[in-house]
Amino acid sequence: MKIKNPQKEKITMSDPWITSHERKVVNEMMRSGWDNYAYVEKFESVFAKWHGRKYALMTPNCTQAIHLILLSLGIKKGDEVLLPDCTWTGTSAPVTYTKATPVFCDIENDTWCLDASSVEKRITENTKAVIAVDLYGNMPKMEKLLAVCRKRKIPLIEDAAEALGSKYKGKRAGSFGIASVFSFHRTKTLTTGEGGMLILDNKKLYDRAKFLRDHGRDAKRSYFVLEAAPKYMPSNLQAALGLAQFDRVEELVKRKRYILHLYKKFLGDISDITLNMETKDVYNGAWAPSLIFGKTSGLTGKAAMEFLKKKGFPTRPFFYPLSSMPAYEKYKTGSAKLNPVAYSLSHRGITLPASFSLSESAIKRYSDAIKEILKFH
Ligand SMILES: Cc1ncc(COP(=O)(O)O)c(C=O)c1O
Repeated sequence: MKIKNPQKEKITMSDPWITSHERKVVNEMMRSGWDNYAYVEKFESVFAKWHGRKYALMTPNCTQAIHLILLSLGIKKGDEVLLPDCTWTGTSAPVTYTKATPVFCDIENDTWCLDASSVEKRITENTKAVIAVDLYGNMPKMEKLLAVCRKRKIPLIEDAAEALGSKYKGKRAGSFGIASVFSFHRTKTLTTGEGGMLILDNKKLYDRAKFLRDHGRDAKRSYFVLEAAPKYMPSNLQAALGLAQFDRVEELVKRKRYILHLYKKFLGDISDITLNMETKDVYNGAWAPSLIFGKTSGLTGKAAMEFLKKKGFPTRPFFYPLSSMPAYEKYKTGSAKLNPVAYSLSHRGITLPASFSLSESAIKRYSDAIKEILKFH
């Protein structure tokens, strides 16, 4: 990964890292991999094992993996599913596909992830699942969330779409709750172009999800369907790329962490900003370094992005609170008053470029621009 002219280096947000190894494996698949699901099954098997899970089901994307687990749990109209107000709509849209109600809870200042005390307050007799999100590679305080869910006998689903390689107290992201999901979107640490994975330990739930993933076919009778289920089958083409990327998983995560640490090196001495957490409990897979301006600076993410754009840099907002957007207006289950931390962090945050190819000098240039904003604001 050599950069010829650092000053001219184009800064991009989140390009993947594809090598000749991936091209070779995908080519092999294209030559001889059309007659079965061998690449899919192999990818599922190694991915589950790495996360200490028994079963895995690859899906065309992570949104569908979430829909699949919600369907498998029997979530339906009238049910409520609790989730953090700050996440991508990929977490919450599948709740609406089942006609259940998404209930937007607050997040924590330090983790940027679902706050167990907010969850506890919002549980009702209709609550049928909680989805915790490992935001930007950060991890929620899992034991607190699991304790709340256990007490109320509610399954916890871990949305680890953004947390490949993260760990909480030594346990991998993807090993918490009844099931976990991952995304292999083109912007993610490991990509299959589009792709997702559901990993879990419960055999009955796995069998149900597997049945629902492929149109509800009868296992005993060919081309005979028992339920009008969705079709969320992946392809060997996606899985071949996934497998080859997964051969390099440690290298991919290491590079993402290096990028986060470079931002910390250049910006870490500024007291009025916070970057992705790393504590004694959290090993951050650092999918997307993000930054929160402190309240004393008075800086908003919007103002910072306007400045960066003028300087010719790419920008990306911190996730907007889902409850603040038109898509979720009708649910009225979240607001600035109910979820003050989500609204405050989102208002003051931005997500930083994290393409694999970024050089140290490119990250320094971007960091210097952020320092400039702070100086002239
Ligand atoms: C937290 C989170 N959940 C779910 C998704 C949905 O993933 P996909 O784009 O693979 O459907 C994403 C993707 O960006 C995400 O960041």
